[in-house]
Amino acid sequence: MAETESLPRHVAIIMDGNGRWAKKRHLPRAAGHVAGVSAVRNIVRAAIDMQLSCLTLYAFSSENWKRPPTEVSHLMGLFRTYFSEDVDELVARNVRMRIIGNRSRAASDILAMIEDGERRTSGNTGLNLTFAFDYGAQEEIAAAARAMAEEAVSGQLDPKSITPESFAARLSTRGLPDPDLIIRTSGERRLSNFLLWQAAYSEFVFVETLWPDFSPAQFREALEAYTQRERRFGALSPEPVA
Ligand code: FPP
Repeated sequence: MAETESLPRHVAIIMDGNGRWAKKRHLPRAAGHVAGVSAVRNIVRAAIDMQLSCLTLYAFSSENWKRPPTEVSHLMGLFRTYFSEDVDELVARNVRMRIIGNRSRAASDILAMIEDGERRTSGNTGLNLTFAFDYGAQEEIAAAARAMAEEAVSGQLDPKSITPESFAARLSTRGLPDPDLIIRTSGERRLSNFLLWQAAYSEFVFVETLWPDFSPAQFREALEAYTQRERRFGALSPEPVA
């Protein structure tokens, strides 16, 4: 797909299947996550090459803390490696990197690396790369509701003035367009607490491929499938011209 105008503006990906990828190879789950990081690099590079505007990757959910401590600490080690080693490339390739999610639970050195990456890429104008990290949509929505309720109680906000747009402006994705396309790998078909508000009109592409095997070619195929969809946003299709 060469033409930028036929691309979705915002693609979000639920990267699933690292554990099954490892199991199939009789490897520890950790090996699946390592391979998953390589897939992240490949897909980010493909998104830059095709001049995609926004890519959001579900890297760690607020529920992922419930995994065994050894797996959580291995994943955190991979985030350390990624955010310490890959930011230079993101800076050089004009990528603006951000995270959405809870910033109070992860280790302070990881948060410092993330904030350094956000600062160093804040002036970049190419791909908007967002990592959902310690992210949960219900938590995000509850936090926005809480903030608005507090403002209403203190008299700074008239509850009657609340609209979908003013609510969306309190979410961590403020400023980003809603995802046009959400891809989930590994054959599972659910949102798993990802972008629940923002996905109201998203198209979905589910692929059987396990995340570590998800290639730039399959990424392009998913974008091609999106271009075949007719998006009506609740309205009717235009009448065919007689
Ligand atoms: C799902 O696989 C994936 C995750 C829990 C997180 C995604 C993490 C990565 C791709 C690696 C790190 C990413 C970055 C940005 C450095 P799973 O373990 O749920 O797989 P399973 O369902 O087969 O067990």
